[in-house]
Amino acid sequence: MDKFYHIVTYGCQMNVHESEKIAGILSELGYKSSDSMEKADIVVFNTCCIRENAENHAFGNIGMLKKLKAARRDMIIAVGGCLTQQLGKAGDLHDKFPYVDIIFGTHNLGKLKDYILKKQSQKKAVIEVVDDDGKVYQETKSLRTSYPNAWINITYGCNNFCTYCIVPYVRGRERSRRSADIIAEAKELIALGYKEITLLGQNVNSYANGTEDISFPELLQKIAEIDGKFRLRFMTSHPKDFSEELVKVIADNPKICKCVHLPVQSGSDKILRAMNRRYTSADYVEKVATLKEYIPNCAITTDLIVGFPGETDDDFKATLNLVNKVGFSSAFSFVYSKRDGTVAAKMENQIPAEVSKQRIMELISLVNSNTREQSEKYIGKTVEILCEDYDKKRGAYLGRDEFGRMAYFKSDKDVIGEFVNVLIDGANGISLFGKIV
Ligand code: SAH
Ligand code: SF4
Ligand code: F3S
Repeated sequence: MDKFYHIVTYGCQMNVHESEKIAGILSELGYKSSDSMEKADIVVFNTCCIRENAENHAFGNIGMLKKLKAARRDMIIAVGGCLTQQLGKAGDLHDKFPYVDIIFGTHNLGKLKDYILKKQSQKKAVIEVVDDDGKVYQETKSLRTSYPNAWINITYGCNNFCTYCIVPYVRGRERSRRSADIIAEAKELIALGYKEITLLGQNVNSYANGTEDISFPELLQKIAEIDGKFRLRFMTSHPKDFSEELVKVIADNPKICKCVHLPVQSGSDKILRAMNRRYTSADYVEKVATLKEYIPNCAITTDLIVGFPGETDDDFKATLNLVNKVGFSSAFSFVYSKRDGTVAAKMENQIPAEVSKQRIMELISLVNSNTREQSEKYIGKTVEILCEDYDKKRGAYLGRDEFGRMAYFKSDKDVIGEFVNVLIDGANGISLFGKIV
């Protein structure tokens, strides 16, 4: 009889890709993918703890499985990812949800197969969360689910310790994979027909720092030289390490998308210092100017945080000013969330929720009006879209242009994985609409 798995993923692209690795492990054990949690023989939650709501979300959904588990005692529930990697969280989770069978962290995902086999032979829950040992393990084989895009890890972990951020604590120190392995993986994926490669790291620009290997711009250059038509993306770039050398490589290689995610977080120098970001708003604006000098039409996207401890009205205004000055093509705006164990959690002057709420609404409204303006400029233009999927609800195919704008369009034949030219005749905020020409 067939056995099925269902994976629930929270958080960033790193986790999305790690769920592909989990899927690889489960399929090796003979499980097949299922969209339905009810039908699954094993449910895996791949969790995130970047903000409190991400954590609450996961806790809530794991809680909802109690009934299902009571009805189907042989079903296995496993919880892994960043939430369980936090100090003491595995124990809390086990106390709260004793019916969870397996708890693992970010550093021992590769051992999930052993844990499942162990659980099948014992009644007791299998709980193992290990510390970062500084090594880069041989990648487990992924069962990729994001065709035509393929994710490739280039670094793991982070050394930056931005004072608000939990990632360095749950992902460990920065480790870079060998460039030869990364390039070989990219070649293999392109030969298999993937049309977009996205390189992943918390701070891709510091790739290979302190080792003998090549730099990030050199790595990008080498991947861009692989034969075949494909797009090359990367995320995330930390502004402090974003160099002119990198800008030149992006400018010189048509396969590298002219779209850079460059999280600024705040426009206030006082707040940037308190965040330990190690650049000023003037430094950031200068980096953007260099980027625009070489690539005038380059799209820049960002992440912004409001309500960081000590943020005054003037600090917030500085963020609004910076957003106006740069003209981001889109931006993710977050309310600061206090994370236990981080430096900022102990800072005085935590901002009241009502103040943060007011600020986030104002910021989102500004960001949205910028995005809308930029989308409207597309009307009447023809853009090359890499078709990614079909949206049943809209009855339309969808995909992005190289600048990251999503477009919806009709097609009589399946064009997923193909580059198509789409004439844009409508825009609705961040999305574009058009027809194939
Ligand atoms: N490594 C990337 C992003 C990691 S997390 C970088 O440095 O940019 C993605 C985004 O989540 C961050 O850019 C930040 O804007 C946001 N974030 C991280 N910790 C947060 C917190 N405690 N509260 C609110 N937003 C947070
Ligand atoms: Fe977090 Fe900063 Fe590292 Fe990004 S660079 S993961 S925000 S500590
Ligand atoms: Fe990503 Fe969330 Fe972990 S944003 S690195 S999954 S804490």
